[in-house]
Amino acid sequence: MYELGGIFGAISYSSRNVVPIILTGLKRLKHRGFDTTGIAFIDGGRLSVLKEVGEPGEVIEKLKLEELSAPIALGHVRFSTHGRPHVDNAHPHVDCSKRIAVVGDGAIANYEAIYDRLIMEGHELKSRSDFEVIAHLIEDCLRKGLSTLESIAFVEQSLEGFYSYAILSEESRSIIAYTSLQPLYVGKSWDLTLVSTSKSALHGLADEYVELSGGELVIANSFTTKFYKLRELMSVEKSFSKLYVVEEYVEKDGYPHHMLREMYEIPYSILRCLAVHQEKYLSYASKHIREAKDVYIIANGTSLHAGLVASYYLSELANISPIVTSAAEFPLYYMENVGPGAVVIAISQSGETSDVVQAAYEAKLRGATIMGLTNYVGSRLANISNLYLPIGAGPELAVPATKTFVTTLATLYKVSIRVAKDMGRITASEYGEALSKVKDYALKLRESMAELDAEAAEAASEIASCRSGYVVSRGITYPIALEGALKIKEVAYMHAEGMEAGEFRHGPISLVERGFFTVFLVPVEAHAAKASYPLIRTSIDMGATVAVIGFENDPSLLELKNVNVIRVMHVDRYLAPIAYTIPLQFLAYRLGLKLQRPIDKPRYLTKAVS
Ligand code: F6R
Repeated sequence: MYELGGIFGAISYSSRNVVPIILTGLKRLKHRGFDTTGIAFIDGGRLSVLKEVGEPGEVIEKLKLEELSAPIALGHVRFSTHGRPHVDNAHPHVDCSKRIAVVGDGAIANYEAIYDRLIMEGHELKSRSDFEVIAHLIEDCLRKGLSTLESIAFVEQSLEGFYSYAILSEESRSIIAYTSLQPLYVGKSWDLTLVSTSKSALHGLADEYVELSGGELVIANSFTTKFYKLRELMSVEKSFSKLYVVEEYVEKDGYPHHMLREMYEIPYSILRCLAVHQEKYLSYASKHIREAKDVYIIANGTSLHAGLVASYYLSELANISPIVTSAAEFPLYYMENVGPGAVVIAISQSGETSDVVQAAYEAKLRGATIMGLTNYVGSRLANISNLYLPIGAGPELAVPATKTFVTTLATLYKVSIRVAKDMGRITASEYGEALSKVKDYALKLRESMAELDAEAAEAASEIASCRSGYVVSRGITYPIALEGALKIKEVAYMHAEGMEAGEFRHGPISLVERGFFTVFLVPVEAHAAKASYPLIRTSIDMGATVAVIGFENDPSLLELKNVNVIRVMHVDRYLAPIAYTIPLQFLAYRLGLKLQRPIDKPRYLTKAVS
């Protein structure tokens, strides 16, 4: 499972009240979560926790948090990636003695086994949250006489996954924070040490900051702040840098637009998506699909393009050919045939798009099984689904869908390989390898995001002066051409058409000339790739502005002259739809920026079309 959250903690050296600072920090972390808000604090030697369902503003008012006063406190905002928003799942979580409070962000992969063991041993766990187990594991160690640091180091040996967490300890009156991978920053001012998931959230509160690297821990009490490498139990020196954040960007984690921030979060969103699904639900999803008489995939816009990619996945990996259609068309042409035995995979990141919700509802009334894929577990789609799979992208505040598209693709891929495994078409080890490849890709992608962005920006500066253009591909990346064109229309207000390369010479070629652009996504199917290069050369010869996106190891890319080439990491062909999406999203963003469009809120569009 995965907990997406924002952590914000503060301790004062001068006994000043840090609660207002925590509340400011939490309001700035809304992009990390807004389903629950909570705070732990130590006042008069006792640790207390207050938490509630709701975004920081609501909860602050409801629980009168502004009236609190404490020199040490730890806050959290949570986005529900699984289970509906509920106060029991809200952080901070406490141990049985209520002397340790924990807040976290990420996934503890072996959480379920630890949870079962703790329950057997008599611990009282109240939530289904990954991070509650940490409080109880530390409690056990402290009871055996270990120091807080030794306890955390011991507990770390038993945890798997990628996560960051912070602890407020009543006994040591300290904040301790650790990260295995997730972003975590420590800030300081003359009388404060702060811990935050976002560097920008420290703006105006800290003068200097330092980022924790994976495996590092910080202990801050009212006298000192010390850093350690946890596994080695070795103290490390870290040098602080001056904190500078553009004030306007504070609530966008330092980015000028939510869209850009959300794109840069994609590697983490993919990792989250890998961890978010419970085994039993993936198994149900696979069973429904395998046993279905007919499989329909319905969605709109960007989600429909993800559905089209899924038809390639299911057809190739599981020999199942779903009907993929716009949710608006589905009731008109297919509903008559829908009945018991049909599975309708309804995709909607918002879970609120009316066409999707209504079509799914009607299909359910006719006896179909509805499998909803959504980012919002409390949405209407999740509510009416017989089985819903969260895509675990985390809050997406920009109207253009970016990280949610990628995690929808990742979820559909997971489901497809799961079906293939359960049908015996791939072995358990091939299944495991396929999942590892997604993880490796996400980890490496973190390093190449800035370069992809820069290359896309270069292409955008040439394309920006064109009237309109095509985004062309074939095979499994053809739906990505459709998606790239949609993103360019939506974000840059430029006309763009997504096209299947085989159709290019059947008419569309007539428009290609100077002032027109063509973006080619080199197909990952060898024969289709070979057939694409003559089209690329023809476009160049006709004077069009051409950009090409292909694998970094494709030698044919080196031969291209007078084109912007964007090389993406070489990946398994099933991951190519994701790998090609990222530069296209950057391209749309950079075009929108160049043409001064209102990127996060394109005209006439809303996050959910109802
Ligand atoms: C594109 C976009 C829209 C949505 C469409 C469906 O960036 O945001 O095309 O994809 O309105 O939305 P959901 O997935 O919420 O049903």
